[in-house]
Amino acid sequence: MRRRWLAAVAVSMAGLLTLTACGGGDDKAAGDGKSGQKKVEVFSWWTGPGEADGLKAMREIFEKDNSGFTFYDAAVAGGSGDQARALLASKLQANQPPDTFQGHAGAELQGYIKAGKLEPLNFLYDELKLKDVLPQELIDQISVQGQVYSVPVNIHRSNILWFNPSVLKEAGVSAAPATIDEFIADLDKVKKTGKIPLSIGSQWTAVHLLESVLLGSLGTDAYNQLWTANADWSGANVTKALENFKTILSYAGTPQEDWQPAAKQVADGAAAFNIMGDWAYGYFHNPAPGGLGKTSKTDFDWAASPGTDGTFMWLSDSFTLPKGAPNRDGAVAWLKVAASKEGQDAFNPKKGSIPARKDADKSLYQDYLAWDLEQWSNDKLAGSIQHGVVANDAWRAAINDAVGLFQQDHDVAKFQQALAAAAKNSGQ
Ligand code: GAL
Repeated sequence: MRRRWLAAVAVSMAGLLTLTACGGGDDKAAGDGKSGQKKVEVFSWWTGPGEADGLKAMREIFEKDNSGFTFYDAAVAGGSGDQARALLASKLQANQPPDTFQGHAGAELQGYIKAGKLEPLNFLYDELKLKDVLPQELIDQISVQGQVYSVPVNIHRSNILWFNPSVLKEAGVSAAPATIDEFIADLDKVKKTGKIPLSIGSQWTAVHLLESVLLGSLGTDAYNQLWTANADWSGANVTKALENFKTILSYAGTPQEDWQPAAKQVADGAAAFNIMGDWAYGYFHNPAPGGLGKTSKTDFDWAASPGTDGTFMWLSDSFTLPKGAPNRDGAVAWLKVAASKEGQDAFNPKKGSIPARKDADKSLYQDYLAWDLEQWSNDKLAGSIQHGVVANDAWRAAINDAVGLFQQDHDVAKFQQALAAAAKNSGQ
């Protein structure tokens, strides 16, 4: 089991702390609410369709169990937290943390830990006996020197190819592509029908696509090696992977505002394929108004992203206790809900993720989520780039910049150099 997990990585905060605020304001109201209850400011980016349903389910449990606190939703819009994470960095730098915030297990969280921004949560792990119910390897990703710094609420999968079965049929594609070459051939077939071969959202979704294309082109071991001291970003195998990325991107439709409208093009039959994490399942499946209320296997279907079957590219949303949280007791009350079986089993079926806890009620995870649970226990693992597992926030931001430039100039050699430089300068 241990071999499946990437070792947690050392992180420099240099880049993280240079990020500046660019998200919406969330005026901190640390004082009492109207009825004398103290507010608990919960910072995330789950505002959009699909995502907000999961947060709401957990919030309801929190409110039921904690009549002395009011939930203050400090979510900042923008999929994958591209706005929220920058704002959070500036708030932490100014020592004005929210009461609790969502981060990603792995390199991203290690950055906050090393910068001394988080309180250890061993007291909570002991009280709730969390070490008995969370995978040790996941705990390793959120620990430094025996201290545990967050409460993981789920496991998400990044490398999913969502597709519209009718659009594929119309294009004469009989099954989801298993390899990158098959994928490119299928994109071309769809193009001939006049439909959008591949839908895409804002810039971070291109980085999300890149991580699946790297994994599918390089294979799991070579992909995992990119995040170690032995990484070789200049090799011919990376060049080939980036050429694949270039070809695949050439079939992308007009970039949509975020991941939801891009995913919706597939569900509506305007596009054939979209590579997105399994939060898309919550969005497709949840009833309106939070989700699209679509039917699995008819309106949408899924497969491992091309070339990645047998590997689970993982990420985990994890809540924290920042040092200096204005309402520390309220934050701990939230963390208890996030850690609980009840909280995770309410949150995850709506969020389109599986629980971090090993003792969750499996009957609640049906359809895509039953498949997901099965894959989680059997697959090899690789860590997500965009969602904070393998690269710290400074490195991720540099990769984002390189992808943004590449989308304009399509210059593979320059792109590869930029990625190699990002790795070299990551300080990780
Ligand atoms: C990820 C996050 C998921 C989901 C997704 C899209 O970074 O871990 O929970 O919110 O972004 O916004």
